[in-house]
Amino acid sequence: MDKVFDDKVVVITGAAGEIGASTVRQFSEAGARIVATDLDQAALDRLRQTLAEAGQDILTLSGDVSRASDAAHMIDQAVRAFGGVDVLVNNAGIEGVVEPLESYPDDMFDRVMAVNVRGVFLGMKHAVPAMRARGGGAIINLASVAGVSGSAGVCAYNASKHAVIGLTRSAAAQLGADGIRVNAVCPSPVTGRMMESLERGIMPEDPAAARLAGEANIPMQRYACAEEVSNLILYLAGPQASFLNGGAYMVDGGLTAKL
Ligand SMILES: NC(=O)c1ccc[n+]([C@@H]2O[C@H](COP(=O)([O-])OP(=O)(O)OC[C@H]3O[C@@H](n4cnc5c(N)ncnc54)[C@H](O)[C@@H]3O)[C@@H](O)[C@H]2O)c1
Repeated sequence: MDKVFDDKVVVITGAAGEIGASTVRQFSEAGARIVATDLDQAALDRLRQTLAEAGQDILTLSGDVSRASDAAHMIDQAVRAFGGVDVLVNNAGIEGVVEPLESYPDDMFDRVMAVNVRGVFLGMKHAVPAMRARGGGAIINLASVAGVSGSAGVCAYNASKHAVIGLTRSAAAQLGADGIRVNAVCPSPVTGRMMESLERGIMPEDPAAARLAGEANIPMQRYACAEEVSNLILYLAGPQASFLNGGAYMVDGGLTAKL
C-alpha cells in the first residue's frame, strides 16, 4: 500500500534535536525521502545510524541555518539527490538565555534572531524556487506559544517566534497562488533539552520546581512530547491539509486558551 509521503522529498532543519528527530522518524515511516540538516554533525550521525538500524536511509548535511550559503546548499543537495523539494520544515531554533530585558546580552539577542528568524527566512527563500519548479509544496515553520504571548526573561525568543508567525503569514499570502502552503506550528513546552535549559535559567537552584510550575500552568497538566508536535507537522505537510495556508496552529494542551 502507498504511504502518504511516498516519493515526496522533505527537508528538515534542526533535524537532530528533540522535535526534529521525531519529525524525521515519522516522515521516514510515511515513505518520504529525507534531507536532515543540523549544526551538530555528531548528533546527525547518531540519528542516521538509528534509522539505518530500522532499515531507513536518510541524507544528512551539517550546516547553519543562519548562513545563506548553507541554506542554498541544503536545497541544492535535495534537488541533486532526489530531484526536487516538496516539503520544508524550518525547525532549527535556539532558546537564548533567561535574563531580564535590561541585562539581556546584545550578542545573544542577535544570535537568537539570526537562527530563529533569518534561518526561517533563508530556508523559505531558497526552497521556494525548487517548490515552484515542482508545481507546489508545503512549508512548516516552528513558532511557539511564545509567538503569541510574552514570558518574562526571554525577550529575544519571544520576539523571534512572533516574527516567525509574521514571516509565515507574509509567505502564505504570496505563495498560495503557486500552490505552496505555508503554516506555523506553535507548541507549548516539550519534554527535552530546550526546556531543561530554560528551567535551569528560570530557577537555577531548583530546575525541577520550575518544571512542576510550568506543567501546573498547562490545562492538561504536562509538557507535550515531541511526537505530539511532529504529528501536527506531518498533518500540515500532507494532503488532508490541502486548504490550510497561513495558519499558526497551537499544539499546547490548552495553554493559550486560558491566557
Ligand atoms: N522544546 C520546546 O519546548 C519547544 C516549544 C515550542 C517551540 N519549540 C521550537 O521547536 C523547534 C525545535 O525545538 P527542540 O525542542 O527540538 O530543540 P532542540 O534543542 O532539541 O533541537 C534544536 C536543534 O536545532 C539545531 N540547531 C541549533 N542552531 C542551529 C543552526 N544555527 N543551524 C542548524 N541547526 C541548528 C540544534 O543542534 C538542535 O539539534 C525550535 O524552533 C524551538 O524553538 C520548542
